[in-house]
Amino acid sequence: MHNFKAADGSTNEHQLGSTELDTNTQEQKSLLAALQLVEERSAMLAAIVDSSDDAIISKNLKGIITSWNLSAQRIFGYCAEEMIGESIMKLIPKDRIEEEPKILSMLKSGQRVDHFETKRVTKQGRLIDVSLTISPVKNVAGKIIGLSKIARDITDKKLEEQRKNDFIAIASHELKTPLTSVRSYIQLALAQARNSADAFTENILSRAEVQTTRMVTMIHDFLDLSRLEDGKMSLNLSRFTLVQLMDDLMAEAKILAPDHTITYQGCTNLEIYADREKISQVLSNLLSNAVKYSLAGTFVRIECARKKDSVSINFTDQGVGIDPIDQRRLFERFYRVKNEQLKNVSGFGIGLHLVSEILKLHGSDIKVKSEPGKGSTFYFTLPVYID
Ligand SMILES: Nc1ncnc2c1ncn2[C@@H]1O[C@H](COP(=O)(O)OP(=O)(O)OP(=O)(O)O)[C@@H](O)[C@H]1O
Ligand SMILES: [Mg+2]
Repeated sequence: MHNFKAADGSTNEHQLGSTELDTNTQEQKSLLAALQLVEERSAMLAAIVDSSDDAIISKNLKGIITSWNLSAQRIFGYCAEEMIGESIMKLIPKDRIEEEPKILSMLKSGQRVDHFETKRVTKQGRLIDVSLTISPVKNVAGKIIGLSKIARDITDKKLEEQRKNDFIAIASHELKTPLTSVRSYIQLALAQARNSADAFTENILSRAEVQTTRMVTMIHDFLDLSRLEDGKMSLNLSRFTLVQLMDDLMAEAKILAPDHTITYQGCTNLEIYADREKISQVLSNLLSNAVKYSLAGTFVRIECARKKDSVSINFTDQGVGIDPIDQRRLFERFYRVKNEQLKNVSGFGIGLHLVSEILKLHGSDIKVKSEPGKGSTFYFTLPVYID
């Protein structure tokens, strides 16, 4: 027998019949089964989280840590008791504190934060390289109530990359000096062969000059790529006339692309303020691509035009063109277009990446307009020197 209290306070005696009793036991049983299922599921999830090699951390929108798995303890050195209730800022090095609000606003605007490579600091004060994948945790109404963070320790991977990078830097540096002198000797011998009208030696030496010039350009690109990776690329700004640079480029083109018709116009005595050597590398890379990805006998047009305080420079070719899908990825490091037509064209996929990074350092960017089968135009602007 059960007594139920009514809203007015009076009690009411209520006798439960056997069917009612059966239904209640039935309901209790299914409730228990559902609870058991939920418990099992959450135990399984906890086991997955704890056996993960990556640190899995959750935090609220104020950056307060709400869960901390075993790998988080292994990677960062703090145990769960030390971290739950603490701010995530404890793990962020002082020079990177601005990352946290940026990540939060990216997630709030619906953007993903995937494999974001950064550094974090351990309990022992050691800086480690981590790759972070962060996702929003939403409630049933779809509102973001917290964040879950997966952190992978990539210190060993970074060390390996650093070793490779150092090797490329040292090898390129060591090759640069002897190769540049080999080229100078070839040029001297070539001049002599021309003077003495020795056509055979002139022909052989011209070919040797082409190949060594190619190697010198490649080595400059390798050196710059490794500087860029190390964050050590800096600009050596000066004022110089654009036409000087174009003349040098044309002299190089005569050697490297004798079968193309290359013209330039509008690049008058205009002075620009930039890193001469690096801009010359930008021009060489754009010209070498225009030649490499078009047929012998076609035109390459270089045009300069002044627009107020800047000058725009365009490289237009009549080559294979680039599919819109590839256009979006051209400037990524090591990206090369894969298609039948280009399968025998060699390259490393670093030229345009360097072009883009060098121009970024100049506060500019490279753009492309292209139609497959018709040709491409690569264009960018540079600041004009103003007294
Ligand atoms: N003018 C162009 N016309 C058509 N495709 C081009 C042109 N310039 C670049 N590409 C495409 O973009 C890709 C990337 O160019 P990028 O200069 O970075 O590398 P690469 O020329 O392959 O090698 P390298 O590192 O020796 O320059 C090329 O593989 C090519 O498919
Ligand atoms: Mg190239």
